[in-house]
Amino acid sequence: METVVSGIRSTGNLHLGNYYGAVKNFVKMQNEYNCFFFIADYHSLTTHPTPADLHGNVKQVLVEYLASGIDPEKATIYIQSDVPEVAELYLYLNMNAYMGELERSTSFKDKVRAHPDNVNAGLLTYPVLMAADIIIHKATKVPVGKDQEQHLEMSRTFGNRFNRLYNVDYFPEAYAFTFSDNLVKIPGLDGKGKMGKSEGEANAVYLSDSPEIIKKKVMRAVTDGGPVEMNQEKPEVIQNLFSLLQVVSSEDTYKHFNDLYNSCQIRYGDLKKQLAEDMILSLAPIRERINDIAADKEYLRKVSKLGAEKARESAGKTIREVREIIGFKPF
Ligand code: TRP
Repeated sequence: METVVSGIRSTGNLHLGNYYGAVKNFVKMQNEYNCFFFIADYHSLTTHPTPADLHGNVKQVLVEYLASGIDPEKATIYIQSDVPEVAELYLYLNMNAYMGELERSTSFKDKVRAHPDNVNAGLLTYPVLMAADIIIHKATKVPVGKDQEQHLEMSRTFGNRFNRLYNVDYFPEAYAFTFSDNLVKIPGLDGKGKMGKSEGEANAVYLSDSPEIIKKKVMRAVTDGGPVEMNQEKPEVIQNLFSLLQVVSSEDTYKHFNDLYNSCQIRYGDLKKQLAEDMILSLAPIRERINDIAADKEYLRKVSKLGAEKARESAGKTIREVREIIGFKPF
């Protein structure tokens, strides 16, 4: 059975982008593959969370994974920092990751631009840690959003480089995976770019948002003055709303509003109302489970313990073999 690995950084609540870009695929994959889904709390340290925030954020993602339907009996759900073998592999891979290639990574350049006062080495080597996450379980499939393609390419580079250096055929290559043909890109509500927590509160709809909040956020989404020509191309802000509609609404609904746009009869207020309604409906079952699961400490303890055991078994085997390949030997 092929192995699947994916993770989400614990830096706050999960939003629609996380759900449709990643978690929804996780839930489908758990029946067909050997799956490892983790909470990337080592990765979250690049932004220096307080100890209380760190723990709260990890819990939030764990709860929302479970509320979304990931089943701890089928998939291995674990917290990255429960598996120190990952940090060890990261150390080894760092020896063959070069400054130049790390500095060229798009996400690194974006982070430097956004936070010039916090360009730490962990940020630079983020793709190395991500590669360790993936290849420690010898995964071949990684369900992630489109923005992670370059990181995956780097993960293949690091694995292949290890293989070449030690003349082994040890780490397989991992590729992005999604059940639909295209990697989904979930845009934000502020008109530019993808949905994300770093882009501001109003830009993202969270799985835990109440119907009232969702409605408020969607109704405030950026629009323009409306189409002026029949069948004109949609500007990004409008295309974004249609992309969201495509994800949460029925095909008929999408077609209805698309036709209205093309004939210059669209009223954005109606479009947003429908979008909010369908979003609320599609998230309702998840939101309802979140509170119950969050209150069940015993269950969370059980799930994370079981996950850590299973993940360490797999990671430990890899680390023992990697140590041998590298040449560490007992006297
Ligand atoms: N970089 C991913 C993101 O920002 C999170 C991540 C860390 C990840 N390690 C991973 C995803 C390993 C897949 C596999 O969303």
